[in-house]
Parts: sequence; C-alpha cells; structure tokens
Amino acid sequence: MAKPKRRYVCSACGSLTTRWQGQCADCGEWNTLTEEAPETVFSARHDLSSGGRAIAFEPLDAPSEALQRRSTGLAEFDRALGGGLVPGSAVLMGGDPGIGKSTLLLQAAARIARAGGSVVYISGEEAAGQVRLRAERLGLAGAPIALAAATSVRDILTTLAQMPPPALVVIDSIQTMHSDQIEGAPGTVSQVRASAFELIRYAKENGVALVLVGHVTKDGSIAGPRVLEHMVDVVMSFEGERSHQYRILRSLKNRFGPVDEIGVFAMEGQGLSEVGNPSLLFLSGREQPVAGSAVFPAIEGTRPVLIEIQALIVRLASGATPRRAVVGWDSGRLAMLLAVLEARCGLNFSSAEVYLNVAGGYRLTDPAADLAVAAALVSALADKPLAADAVWFGEVSLAGEIRPVAHSAIRLREAAKLGFASAYGPGEAGARCDGARFTALGLLPNLVDRILGAA
Ligand code: TYD
Ligand code: MG
Repeated sequence: MAKPKRRYVCSACGSLTTRWQGQCADCGEWNTLTEEAPETVFSARHDLSSGGRAIAFEPLDAPSEALQRRSTGLAEFDRALGGGLVPGSAVLMGGDPGIGKSTLLLQAAARIARAGGSVVYISGEEAAGQVRLRAERLGLAGAPIALAAATSVRDILTTLAQMPPPALVVIDSIQTMHSDQIEGAPGTVSQVRASAFELIRYAKENGVALVLVGHVTKDGSIAGPRVLEHMVDVVMSFEGERSHQYRILRSLKNRFGPVDEIGVFAMEGQGLSEVGNPSLLFLSGREQPVAGSAVFPAIEGTRPVLIEIQALIVRLASGATPRRAVVGWDSGRLAMLLAVLEARCGLNFSSAEVYLNVAGGYRLTDPAADLAVAAALVSALADKPLAADAVWFGEVSLAGEIRPVAHSAIRLREAAKLGFASAYGPGEAGARCDGARFTALGLLPNLVDRILGAA
C-alpha cells in the first residue's frame, strides 16, 4: 500500500505544501507550517455518473427579494456592516486577543435581544459564569440572551436543531470549536475549517445570522482567520492599540455592501461606547501649538476623520547613523518624503534622527497624508509650530509636486465643521472649498517657504 502523503498546512493563510519549510511560500509567514492529517470531510468521493440532480438556471435580472437587515443596535457596528446583519449570512470577526471582540459582540447581542430578536451566544473560551460577570459589569445582565459554554460543534448544532432558529448565533471563538467529523486538535487549520463549514451550513439553511470570532495571532500557534475568509460573507477586523482607548471596526470583505467603511468605538470602564464624531477623539488634547504637529483630514471609506501627525527631529552631533522610526505610517513612504524634501527643497535631514507618529495609535493608509507629514517634518526641523487651525492634505510626487487626491470637498467640509479656519492642499481642491480659507500649494518648495517664512 502506498504510504499516505504527508501534507503541511500554513496556519496563517491555509495554503498546502507537501514539504516542510520554515517560511510559507504563499504568505511569507515564518514557522506557520504544521503537519496535518489528510482531510476526509471535503474529499468524499462521489460517483459522478449517477445520483446528481439537474440544476435550474436563472437569468441575471430575475427579481430578487430585497435584503432584510437586522440592526445590531450599535450604529457604528451597523455602519461597518453596510447597514446591519443579513439573515443567513456568516460574519467573521477577526482581531488581536484582548482587543474587545467579545465585549462588542455581547453588547450587540444584548441590544438585539432587547429589541426582540432571539440570540444564542456560545463561548468556547470563557465559562458561562465569566460571560455573565462581564455582562453584569456592562449592565447587560437582564438581556434575554441564551448563553452556553460549549466547544463541540455536534452538540451545538444538535441543540440549535431542537429550537426555533435564532436571529443571531455568536461563536466565540471559532478556534476553540471542535468537530468530530475530522481529526485534529481545536485551532488547527482543518478543525477550524470543518467547524466553520458545519456552522455556516446551519446558518444558511436556517436564515440565521452567524458571527464567528477569530483571533489573530502573530506566531501562528492557532489558525488565523485568513483560512476562513473565502467561506464567510463578511470579514471584519477589530483593530486598535490595547494601550489606547479607541477601536476601529473595519470591513475587509462584504458580499452585501461596501468595504472600507469603519465604525469607531472607545473602550471604557462600561464597555465599548460608540464614537459618532471620531475627529474629536483623535484630536483631543491639542491645546498649545507645538512644532512638528500637523492635522490631516483623512478619509476612511466615505467618512472624513481628522488626525494629528507628529514629527520630532533630533540633531546628532557625532557621525552616528541616525534613526528613523515611524508609528502608524509606512516607513518606506517616510524615507521617500525625506528624500524629496532634501532633493527638491534643499533641506537636510541626513544627520538628524526622525521620529514620526500618528496620534493615538491610528494607522494611516490614505496617500493624501504626504503633505501633512511633510508639513510636520518641516515644522519640526525649523522648530516652528504650524497654525493651530490649519489642515494639510495632498499626495507628494518624487518631482516634488503636490498632487490632487480624492474627496477634497469632504475633507474640507469636515475641517470647516470642526473649526479649522485654513486648509492647504493641491490646486484643484480650491474650487470646491467653502467654509475654510483654502490655499493651493503647487510644489513642495511652496510649503517649505510658507512654513519657514511664517513668523
Ligand atoms: P475582550 O472583549 O475580552 O477581548 P477579545 O474578546 O477580543 O479577546 O476585551 C478584553 C479587554 O477589554 C480587557 O483587557 C479589558 C477591556 N475591557 C474594558 O476596558 N472595559 C470593559 O467594560 C470590558 C468588558 C473590557
Ligand atoms: Mg474574547
């Protein structure tokens, strides 16, 4: 008999190889390949010549039912979902351990239950008593949630089959679930996949909204949510720095709505509170004008968020190699911007340490941040504070031009709304400016002159 082939599966991305390697060839993660028993669940062989049924085709424009959505009771959660939970859909909620996934879902579950929806909350990580304690702390103890601590998918599905399908089932977390259809310990790729597969099938067949919690771990000790991304309808990620208060709920994939919408929450003693106006939160604490601080009107999805960018420049006396450290922005982009400032504007950063920080642990991906970063850097280098009521946005090219960016009008409106009287950006934005005083900057040297020339 032929020896069964060994197979190795990456716990971060789920890709398969037949040879062990230190680094996954697909996603580049280290030490994530583990040996797995051959899968049986998905490879059941069928005799294709008999037993199949003819499938019916439909035209693309056949009338379809409007999507029914159920509000989670948390407007920020609904916004990130694209309007609410869709019955019969599966949502994967990823995030670092301890970031607040269980708290968020318990709060949403309580709101749904209080609004008359039946909710089943299965915790595989905490005992029912622990969840109850948390609920008490959050002031949710009275909510009619059916709570259980369980990890066997068979037990869970048997129980669910004996009751009317609930509106929402929360599984916290999928990595603790165990399916007896397949070998392996909970948390391995094949277990996570098989458990999710069975739970999702139940949700689809019964019109139940299912939320699966998935921890993200950097060391790959448990299978990450990426192995499930293709199986679910919505992938959300709950992000933030544990040392900071705010949390951002982002949708990375959504079969029922737009992605890139965010919901913003603040973690407080009483659980997560919704932050309707994120700009106020990210800007809090700015009182005295300081050199090296610039405000950037960012766009998250369709939503403007004002964010403070801070730069610090430390001159080095000796010839030691200067450090460049970035938190919340791309370090390659900072290197590029420093090079452009040196080459096109004649500034000298070569013997200085450069530190850049996006306030509050926020991670910026909007390319329009270039101008605000440049303004912060020049202000820090010259030790001259920028006007406290100014915002800066625009993309900087290698030639030193300040390029137009998307959504100028929304950025300017948000800035004006929050009392910023002046805005600096690419030329084309000015025509659509109302409220704030707008100054068009064509080239990076214009920015430098403006900051150095200012008293
Ligand atoms: P949790 O929801 O358990 O995180 P996850 O499910 O993502 O692992 O949140 C845990 C953290 O949240 C914990 O470190 C304490 C903090 N927290 C608060 O600050 N306030 C609260 O009201 C609650 C319930 C938790
Ligand atoms: Mg948890």
